[in-house]
Amino acid sequence: MPTSLAFDVYGTLIDTHGVMVALEPQVGPQAGAFSRVWRDKQLEYSFRRGLMRQYEPFSICTSQALDHTCALFGLHLSPEGRQGLLDAYQTLPAFPDAAEGLTQARKAGFRLFAFSNGRADAVEALLVQAGLRDYFLEVVSVDEVQSFKPNPEVYAHFLRRAGTVGSEAWMISGNPFDVLGALGAGMRAAWVQRSPETPFDPWGVEPTLTVRSLLDLATRIRP
Ligand code: LAC
Repeated sequence: MPTSLAFDVYGTLIDTHGVMVALEPQVGPQAGAFSRVWRDKQLEYSFRRGLMRQYEPFSICTSQALDHTCALFGLHLSPEGRQGLLDAYQTLPAFPDAAEGLTQARKAGFRLFAFSNGRADAVEALLVQAGLRDYFLEVVSVDEVQSFKPNPEVYAHFLRRAGTVGSEAWMISGNPFDVLGALGAGMRAAWVQRSPETPFDPWGVEPTLTVRSLLDLATRIRP
């Protein structure tokens, strides 16, 4: 069976900082810092909910992280303004290399999956509006096991859903915690390091492969 590739969604195929367009009119020059805190808090809430075994969908982590970030920045949003930012999270753009990278990976014969912290319905809708859904055999969500990356159980769930084993499956992610999570669960993992300034976590474990863009993937992994 050809090698399976599990593509992370937020931060790998889809640019979470695309929310800047909606943030700038409401937050002004602090929009960049606001966007980074919102994203970091969203992930922190998912990690904590996973550890505490108090699962709520990723969209709840996102909306609660928004409320926290507003409080931190002293930003008072109207209910419509708040909803507008959450809606912007459903219509985030694809990274510019995503469609071509996925086209090449499919042509090379890989089995492509989207594998995300987001619920399957949210991820389906996000990928459809970004023009990326049709590249994937299936969307696999951590929601099916009610936990979050990097719990090893969610990677084991992905392997079961894809009908494969860790030695024949790669996690493709721009998020170092996801790369380390997949390696820890016995998968191969490619880190998409889009900026040379982005450091990897110094845990003494390296990605199986580091690429600067999704365009480098298909030639560097063997199907
Ligand atoms: C995801 C997170 C890592 O899409 O952003 O799974």
